[in-house]
Amino acid sequence: MDVISVIRTKRDRGELSPQQIDWVIDAYTRGEVADEQMSALAMAIFLNGMNRTEIARWTAAMIASGERMNFDTLSRPTADKHSTGGVGDKITLPLAPLVAACGAAVPQLSGRGLGHTGGTLDKLESIPGWRALLSNEEMLNVLDTTGAVICAAGDGLAPADKKLYALRDVTGTVEAIPLIASSIMSKKIAEGTGSLVLDVKVGTGAFMKNIDDARELASTMVALGTDSGVKTVALLTDMSTPLGLTAGNALEVRESVEVLAGGGPADVVELTLALAREMLDAAGIKDADPAKALADGSAMDVWRRMIAAQGGDPDAALPVAREQHVVTASASGVLTRLDAYDIGIAAWRLGAGRARKEDPVQAGAGVEIHAKPGDTVTAGQPLLTLHTDTPEKFDYALESLGAAYDIAEPGTAFTANPIVLDRIA
Ligand code: URA
Repeated sequence: MDVISVIRTKRDRGELSPQQIDWVIDAYTRGEVADEQMSALAMAIFLNGMNRTEIARWTAAMIASGERMNFDTLSRPTADKHSTGGVGDKITLPLAPLVAACGAAVPQLSGRGLGHTGGTLDKLESIPGWRALLSNEEMLNVLDTTGAVICAAGDGLAPADKKLYALRDVTGTVEAIPLIASSIMSKKIAEGTGSLVLDVKVGTGAFMKNIDDARELASTMVALGTDSGVKTVALLTDMSTPLGLTAGNALEVRESVEVLAGGGPADVVELTLALAREMLDAAGIKDADPAKALADGSAMDVWRRMIAAQGGDPDAALPVAREQHVVTASASGVLTRLDAYDIGIAAWRLGAGRARKEDPVQAGAGVEIHAKPGDTVTAGQPLLTLHTDTPEKFDYALESLGAAYDIAEPGTAFTANPIVLDRIA
């Protein structure tokens, strides 16, 4: 087997054989296939796709690149959730402790920022002392004692995805259904959760820009999970505008804590509760009320224990960026559009995301949103506050915001998209 023939097969729109897939994933994991060769193959897959047979084999090969975990020793049923990535998508932060407070064990293996979308681990790392890297033993211990753990997939779990994920982030090969489906499902199946709820984002700020592509991605992942014995459900959710009022690492942690304290933006609360109900249902827990667990502080208690168990100080002040710049409304009227992609790019350019896989992220960088679609605004009022430690980046971020919003005549009727657009089981 040689890598050039594998690349040529996909470049020329052929079907990769099971042997080619097994070999190339294994050889890439071992370092025999170089990053530039895997980038070429990823781009060929991005352009020419893979059929369901190829995707299932690719996923199986990524699982086989590492170990499989097992939560059979836990007394509670396991439930996990994974988002395909969005802007301001901090839902995992309040959701994991909330579902744990309702009786499930939530082993949440999470990722870093990808392209213009934020990453759960980058967000949590803005909490002083908090550690994303746990050994399998530590992970099980946090899960057992607090009910929830959010951490990086260990080096042993789907290492092929770990390498490929970082490579795709910097080679323009993220938004491909076969690569997203296999990336997410290899980690989730190898992790050994009993049930999984997928949050498949749709809209400008998502990797899937239209509902048909999102349905295809969702049904591909639901089939991969179900075929592997994981009870899998997908919600298709709106990502045309950012979730909540913040996009950026520490900014999103702050907002998540507000939700756990019983407040927070309505859209974040609504989606958190919708996903919590799906997770509890998939885990077979029928009598819990997640809205009550948010209101009575029990989800917050789990959050505090979970953060502390991973070395973090839940009471520490969160980092704040050194410089701010306010973007004001250009007219008076009704804000009818605030584009998720443009806000995501601005947050990324301000330092919340990375341009090369080894780059650090700025904890305080990002965008704070002062008005959402449907709100009435007045010319000159603050619409966004940009945060960064590197003010020379303001102009670069502002370039991406030139056409980020529309303001219609005062009194214009506006109907918001529903948050949950569809469900695939
Ligand atoms: N999340 C993942 O884990 N992988 C992707 O490819 C996209 C989102």
